[in-house]
Amino acid sequence: MSGLVVAMDGPSGSGKSSASRGVARALGLRYLDTGAMYRAITWWMLQQEVDLADQRAIAERSGEPSLVMSTDPDAPGVTVDGVDVNGPIRGPEVTGAVSAVSAVPEVRRRLVSLQQEIIAESLPGGGIVVEGRDIGTVVAPDAPVKVYLTASADARAQRRTAELTGTTVETQKAEMARRDTLDSTRKADPLAMAADAIELDTTPLTLDDVIAEVLRFVKERA
Ligand code: DC
Repeated sequence: MSGLVVAMDGPSGSGKSSASRGVARALGLRYLDTGAMYRAITWWMLQQEVDLADQRAIAERSGEPSLVMSTDPDAPGVTVDGVDVNGPIRGPEVTGAVSAVSAVPEVRRRLVSLQQEIIAESLPGGGIVVEGRDIGTVVAPDAPVKVYLTASADARAQRRTAELTGTTVETQKAEMARRDTLDSTRKADPLAMAADAIELDTTPLTLDDVIAEVLRFVKERA
């Protein structure tokens, strides 16, 4: 079975989503947003009024919701028990709670295995671009192409603010700093750059530049 896996990791606002979709489109590959999976399970926990301060309660319920992912780079999405949650998972309630849910090892185990199934299914069709925090280190450690995107705190907050309504750069900067700390200091699969990843600082680059740079790297490695 042949197929290409491109692992795209980095903090929020580093430009992962747009770049990953662009690369998938250019190469005719599938696209998986693993952050949307952590957000979707968080949305479900909030709906169920699970106490998010209680890791054991989260762990116990983590097997219940059924997640279905669309891996079309032109129409990515997620449903939970058949409900389209693409709007609500981007809201402040889910964004504020997702780090707590994604730190629970049982949640990660379940979602990592689901991600690995989706990757395996994509291979006969050519492969997939997968974005997240632990793709190069945990989900797809054998991926031939691993990219770690970074950007300055200001650039990341500005990008995120432009995507949302009713927020400010300062608010986003504080929220991102909070999530970065939680995501990179948690015990289970923290945000980390794989030893064999290339680091790309997207601060001075346009989206097209970033896509071109990743495509150049794919050509080199794959
Ligand atoms: O990329 P994002 O902002 O949509 O991700 C939402 C949260 O999910 C992020 O704060 C950390 C978590 N996450 C994770 O722990 N592992 C991943 N592979 C992807 C996201």
